[in-house]
Amino acid sequence: MAGNRTFTMIKPRAVAENHTGAIIKMIEEAGYKIVSIKKTQLTASTAGKFYEVHKERPFYEELVKFMSSGPIVPMILEKENAVLDYRKLIGSTDPAEAAEGTIRKLYATSKGENAVHGSDSDENAEIESSFFFSEIERF
Ligand code: CDP
Ligand code: MG
Repeated sequence: MAGNRTFTMIKPRAVAENHTGAIIKMIEEAGYKIVSIKKTQLTASTAGKFYEVHKERPFYEELVKFMSSGPIVPMILEKENAVLDYRKLIGSTDPAEAAEGTIRKLYATSKGENAVHGSDSDENAEIESSFFFSEIERF
């Protein structure tokens, strides 16, 4: 059965360009309840840990540098079929390939700086949520 929670974060460039409010509005209008939210900044070390699965990929170093370059807004979101529906709402990794009206189509500037993260499975949503939020914050 598909879970009802996913994890997202608004990435540094979208936060720096003041798209936080517009992106949260799209998320709420899509029917998600915000369970947990904060503004924080990753270090190279914590960004490296979050993206550990991509360690061997050619874009890893650049990704870690970008993701630790400024504040981010991580959130836990709740709705039926949360993970899959959220991947649809954000669109393809590369904004050039993202469908019209998706968050990445509207706010991403490149494949690397693509405005938002979205978990790819229930299991990763849980792992990523607990990376950023304590048990008390994940009520
Ligand atoms: O974020 P998503 O799940 O759509 O993509 P991913 O394959 O899990 O990659 C994680 C992140 O690495 C992406 O969101 C991009 O920011 C970055 N990336 C990149 O810079 N160049 C690529 N060729 C693939 C991913
Ligand atoms: Mg991914």
